[in-house]
Amino acid sequence: DPFDPGHVVDFDVIAPVSAEVDSFDVPAGWTWAPLISWGDPILPGAPDFDFENQTAEAQLGQFGYNNDYTTIVPLQDPNRALLVCNNEYTNEELMFRDWVDAQSATDEQLRISLAAHGMSVVELRRADADSPWGYVRGSDFNRRITPMTPMRFTGPAAGAKALRTEADPQGRTPVGTFGNCAGGTTPWGTVLSGEENFNGYFSSPEVEGGQSDRYSVYGSGGRAWERVEPRFSAENEPNEANRFGWIVEVDPSDPTSTPRKHTAMGRMKHEGATVSLAADGRVVSYMGDDERFEYLYKFVSKRTYREGDRKHNMRLLEDGDLYVAVFEGDGIEDERYDGRGRWVQLTRGGRSVVPGMSIDQVLVNTRAAADVVGATKMDRPEDVERNPVNGRVYVACTNNTRRGTLGQPGVDEANPRPLNKDGHVVEIVEARDDAAATTFSWNLVLVCGDPEDQSTYFGGFDPAQVSPISCPDNVAFDTTGNLWISTDGNTLGSNDGLYEVVVDGPNRGQVRQFLSVPTGAETCGPVIADDGRTVFVAVQHPGEVDGATIDDPASTFPYDGTGQPRPSVVQVRRA
Ligand code: FEO
Ligand code: CA
Ligand code: CA
Ligand code: CA
Repeated sequence: DPFDPGHVVDFDVIAPVSAEVDSFDVPAGWTWAPLISWGDPILPGAPDFDFENQTAEAQLGQFGYNNDYTTIVPLQDPNRALLVCNNEYTNEELMFRDWVDAQSATDEQLRISLAAHGMSVVELRRADADSPWGYVRGSDFNRRITPMTPMRFTGPAAGAKALRTEADPQGRTPVGTFGNCAGGTTPWGTVLSGEENFNGYFSSPEVEGGQSDRYSVYGSGGRAWERVEPRFSAENEPNEANRFGWIVEVDPSDPTSTPRKHTAMGRMKHEGATVSLAADGRVVSYMGDDERFEYLYKFVSKRTYREGDRKHNMRLLEDGDLYVAVFEGDGIEDERYDGRGRWVQLTRGGRSVVPGMSIDQVLVNTRAAADVVGATKMDRPEDVERNPVNGRVYVACTNNTRRGTLGQPGVDEANPRPLNKDGHVVEIVEARDDAAATTFSWNLVLVCGDPEDQSTYFGGFDPAQVSPISCPDNVAFDTTGNLWISTDGNTLGSNDGLYEVVVDGPNRGQVRQFLSVPTGAETCGPVIADDGRTVFVAVQHPGEVDGATIDDPASTFPYDGTGQPRPSVVQVRRA
């Protein structure tokens, strides 16, 4: 009999909710409540959130904006834990009254926005295993990590010329992080965070606004941070942008620890990084570069994981080899999108194996290195994670509406749809089921969209019996190995949501919608906890709709009476 995992999260599927309807919807028999919201005080002495009287000083002690990656790191006491969240970016039009643009913002508003970026670490407690979690205001564990937090580079490119600035002539001590999108939690209890859309934060006088150069300083994102932090002007500090676009490792158990940016893992628009162990105990991290026609990567550590030796494990991501994926299809005559693939090595033992590129070039301009070796241009690879139950690796390719358009790459079997507006999910089977393998087989388990659209595919399951799903972004797993997908940018006229996808057994490909987030929001985070009785989701950018302002909001989530939307981490529990 094929293994049938069943459904560890017990719920009745919900119907899609129209994008016009501002509500947060969970299945019958389930309840939800915000666990923490933008502006909630976390550090000792931080004031209560006061929407009308925001200050940068207050924000530095409060939960950041636009919670994305969310993880719960256990502490010894099962009723205590650490919540770690990425605070990816800010929606100033929803934060400040009468907002026009960054150019006309006050310096204090710019500093508030800066302070609302980065990450938040917050202690959680509950009375017992059957009680909801709450956050602990003023806990010694609580921490804000911001664009101003001192950090350290590790690995072969630490100290590289391209990383040196006037403030850091050694090129080893970058300051801050932002654009933190997805992430991963390591077996040794640290959190990895991907610096994704870092490009929009640097003003560049030579480049017109919005004109992006794929490799270096991009056009001004219009955030005007250079007015309060001169290093964000490319004219003042051309190398500053090179100090972002990395994977950051944070130890949430030590609020005094210095976050590290691991150069061995390459530089790109890092969506995130998740870790798994190879057959021989080396640590393998899977990473997507979320931009149209960018690549899928993995990092394999030099040394092996040692259970219980935290000091040793803390350094595993500093030293190892970087690979990029090449997908080869076997043709569509078999009526399946599938084939074989190779992980092509970019670095070996701290040296470049890319013709014509130094190790510093490969690690700082990783996209260029992947171009040289002919990696496969993907439809915006977002979260990538290995299923701890079946060992296969799942890649959310969120969408790519330029695929097959004039002057752009056409379709291939791994990215088979032109004008791919709804995305797809790749399933990778590593050779010998070993995460360190250099070859794999693959197939598309989902081609997303309206099930009535003939171009969709649901793992062989009856399309008449699945929930429509569009723009997969984050992936997670429950204890039986079912895949959970949160979405960003639903094109089907519905709000985004969280979906359970069966990937093994007779119901493979069955997609069931679990919850729906408010108008304008993206579903992030998901954590399936307590054997399926609790689900955490991060509701990011509620009310982010063209033309919306706080005086005319498209969403007032979490409906706390303030009338303004506030990004929040939500705890969903079975009643
Ligand atoms: Fe921040 Fe690629 O999503
Ligand atoms: Ca095929
Ligand atoms: Ca994302
Ligand atoms: Ca996204």
